[in-house]
Amino acid sequence: MPSEPREAFVWIWLPGAVDPVVAGRLDRDPASGIISFTYGQSYLEREDRISLYLPELPLVRGEIAAAAGNLAGCIADAAPDSWGQRVILNRHSSEAVDTGDLNPLVYLLESGSDRIGALDFQESPLEYVPRSKRHATLAELVESAEKVERGTPLSPELDLALLHGSSVGGARPKALVDDRGRRLIAKFSSTADTLSVVKAEFVAMELARRVEIEAAPVSLASADGKDVLLVERFDRLADGSRLAIVSALTILGLDEVAARYASYAALADQIRARFTEPASTLRELFARITFNVLCSNTDDHARNHAAFWDGEMLTLTPAYDICPQRRAGGVTNQLMAIGKDGFRESRVAGCVARASGAGSSSTLTRPRATGASEVRWSSSRAAGGRRSAIGSAGCPRRCRGSWRRGPTSPTACSRRSRRCRRARRSRG
Ligand SMILES: Nc1ncnc2c1ncn2[C@@H]1O[C@H](COP(=O)(O)OP(=O)(O)OP(=O)(O)O)[C@@H](O)[C@H]1O
Ligand SMILES: [Mg+2]
Repeated sequence: MPSEPREAFVWIWLPGAVDPVVAGRLDRDPASGIISFTYGQSYLEREDRISLYLPELPLVRGEIAAAAGNLAGCIADAAPDSWGQRVILNRHSSEAVDTGDLNPLVYLLESGSDRIGALDFQESPLEYVPRSKRHATLAELVESAEKVERGTPLSPELDLALLHGSSVGGARPKALVDDRGRRLIAKFSSTADTLSVVKAEFVAMELARRVEIEAAPVSLASADGKDVLLVERFDRLADGSRLAIVSALTILGLDEVAARYASYAALADQIRARFTEPASTLRELFARITFNVLCSNTDDHARNHAAFWDGEMLTLTPAYDICPQRRAGGVTNQLMAIGKDGFRESRVAGCVARASGAGSSSTLTRPRATGASEVRWSSSRAAGGRRSAIGSAGCPRRCRGSWRRGPTSPTACSRRSRRCRRARRSRG
């Protein structure tokens, strides 16, 4: 692989498809570092084409420059974040010392192909060659992750095993593993941890599910005497198809530099305008905000919320990365502002005050047309049993409905809209 690639081809799993097709090309301008995207002619001519994400990559001919930052947000969401970059840097340790030393296209082209969402990046527009995975035990992956943190080179086998999960975002050490048909993200302790972050995240995620927040199912494992959090992936369906995902950062039209301007109030506006089932999604979002406050998850940045994208509409993904953070003093702040007024204090009363403010259309929980729908953190909810449907995703039949899912597999489209029924009939 050349160390200075100028282009990379974007492949996409279209809704319901089990094989990818080429969607277009990324070109990096070496002078400015800006990476533009151009849809392929053959893709634009497909009947089942979808935009990689709107409004940033509309289905038009010609080069599309990133609206914010150097790279379109939906592509950046599929790129390795600081952990994956460290794994890749580890294999380039003879030529680069800092993650910023490598061309961003290297991260796209070398990271594992089983990335979050429905995109992958390839050197060729003609042939799709997934970057192969190597099997490694959980204990071997834990040991390899520690080596990467220390900057110690890995054996070629372990390098490939860890590289497989390098495309998953986030800063904490992790890998992708399969366990009897379950597709899992394994999150490891970091050598920098001063408390059991893995256990804390397990407890918070489990508590969230018990109070009926739609959270990704988690379990706790042990490898080599160390805790490992296993998180079930919600972007893969049992039939082998993949669900496209964009982060709240992308939905808000922000890049990493502007991430501090992200707010839940702005996300609520997007939910009202562009999400399936906005009323219940607003209630779910409000539950997630207050749960973050209650369990001290102050690391609620805009890449810790995401939505499925079906080419037209967004559907909130199950919650993930709910991890209590150590508090220094009595008063602390959420990373994402809660209100339009910039309020970000970790106080439930402040959330409630912004939930359905009198006469305002920019509240956290009020649907667009139906007036106030105040949400209370009710004791019955906090005590609550589990709902049968624990996850949702955009219906792959693009009916604007959403799949309601059991713990491991999709069951049905919740909305059963006319369009979905039509699609069902035509597919027999
Ligand atoms: N269950 C899941 N299914 C599919 N994708 C997921 C799931 N959990 C997390 N992700 C994706 O993986 C990314 C990284 O996961 P996560 O946020 O848990 O890692 P992290 O290293 O703890 O992140 P941070 O840097 O915020 O601490 C997320 O931003 C999201 O895109
Ligand atoms: Mg995260």
